[in-house]
Amino acid sequence: MASVLPDSDSEDDLPPGWEERATVDGSVYYVNHNTKGTQWTHPRTGKKKRVAGELPFGWEKVVEDSGKVLYVDHENHRTTYTDPRLAFAQEEKESPLMFRQRFDGSSTALQVLHGRDLGGKVAVVTGANCGIGYETARALARHGCHVVLACRSLTRAQEAIERIQAERPQAICTSQRLDLKSLKSVKEFANSLKGHPAFNRGIDMLILNAGVFALPHSLTEDGLETTFQVNHLSQFYLTLLLEDLLARVSSSRVVFVSSESHRFSTLNVDNMSEEWFCPKPQNYWSMMAYNDSKLCNVLVANELARRWSSKDILVFSCHPGNMVSSNISRHWCPYRLLFILVRPFTKSLEQAASTQVYCATAPELSDVSGLYFNNCCRCEPSKQAQNTQLSSRLWQLSLDFISSRFSSLDIPDKYRNKP
Ligand SMILES: NC(=O)c1ccc[n+]([C@@H]2O[C@H](COP(=O)([O-])OP(=O)(O)OC[C@H]3O[C@@H](n4cnc5c(N)ncnc54)[C@H](OP(=O)(O)O)[C@@H]3O)[C@@H](O)[C@H]2O)c1
Repeated sequence: MASVLPDSDSEDDLPPGWEERATVDGSVYYVNHNTKGTQWTHPRTGKKKRVAGELPFGWEKVVEDSGKVLYVDHENHRTTYTDPRLAFAQEEKESPLMFRQRFDGSSTALQVLHGRDLGGKVAVVTGANCGIGYETARALARHGCHVVLACRSLTRAQEAIERIQAERPQAICTSQRLDLKSLKSVKEFANSLKGHPAFNRGIDMLILNAGVFALPHSLTEDGLETTFQVNHLSQFYLTLLLEDLLARVSSSRVVFVSSESHRFSTLNVDNMSEEWFCPKPQNYWSMMAYNDSKLCNVLVANELARRWSSKDILVFSCHPGNMVSSNISRHWCPYRLLFILVRPFTKSLEQAASTQVYCATAPELSDVSGLYFNNCCRCEPSKQAQNTQLSSRLWQLSLDFISSRFSSLDIPDKYRNKP
């Protein structure tokens, strides 16, 4: 069939005389005006498509008394019989893992969200006052999502909200204090969300973005090495504490912002221990602590995806970009200089935010979990990151770390003393 059709740059383009339409239940069909026939399969690709998800921002579906369905574009004061989601119709897949790459390393978070209406949804973004986290919060809020900026400084969080609302005054943002150097602060943060009426219906997205890099050796108030606690342990704990809120929403998503640096970690089943994660100052190397913490992010995402496979909570991990100019290099002058030098060749913050926004919102990921993404594209993480023995050990060790700092009552009931 495809060989007799006229040439086109895109295999998705329809031949002359054909039109794409959607039924009320979202199935796409094709009208051939030359022969007055209709069919369910695309005349070039032979594939079936469906429209799914919410209507684009500002659109409303209206059913007339006659039963006819109309789509009203309130932004541009237009009415049409054509479902505007047709432009984003997804091919029906033989496997949930078969999704086409729609974006790449040059895409920005706003491009990923183009046409999306996130009104009524709630996203929690850790470390959202600056850098990649700020761009993530900004893009989600621009598309109608209620964003909770989970930051250690309420002043910096409020300043970020003011910048977002200067661009879009109706943006809904909330600042909430979260200091990842303190398990107590994590607990208080989770409790305040649980007790807040705005979040009774649940949380749609939890984006674990906050991170530190190249820190000199220091201990947190819980007596743990700071990079380990901020980048891994506290965000792992936060995820467990927010599970109930995530479970209230269908297909909620957790995104662990990791890094390609996870590939350089030397963590393995034999050396994983409290001493490894919290070494004495003379055995501490900041780069290795960072690499290990970023491997922990992928391992925990994969472990959670397995443990929550019967729940409707999807878990992803991702790499935002290489040496992106943010505040991440602030702790060591040589890194600051290096990041400035490579700036012309690296992603902008808007581009760096795209992969985590993609993982948190892409409709084609609604049937998959436990995947790792880079440049909005699914990739294989390192072999260690896929080691289920390692992730299961990390899970138990992380629970032990928390219960040894807190009474075990602070771990959600179902996770107490269970490997
Ligand atoms: N930039 C890159 O090239 C790159 C590459 C790969 C992966 N990543 C990952 O991307 C994520 C975002 O990094 P970024 O480049 O945007 O860095 P950034 O500009 O330094 O932002 C880090 C965020 O984390 C917050 N944070 C740090 N310590 C915290 C704590 N104790 N409690 C709560 N929040 C804390 C910071 O808050 P304050 O402003 O209050 O410090 C800030 O909001 C990190 O997970 C990082 O590992 C970045």
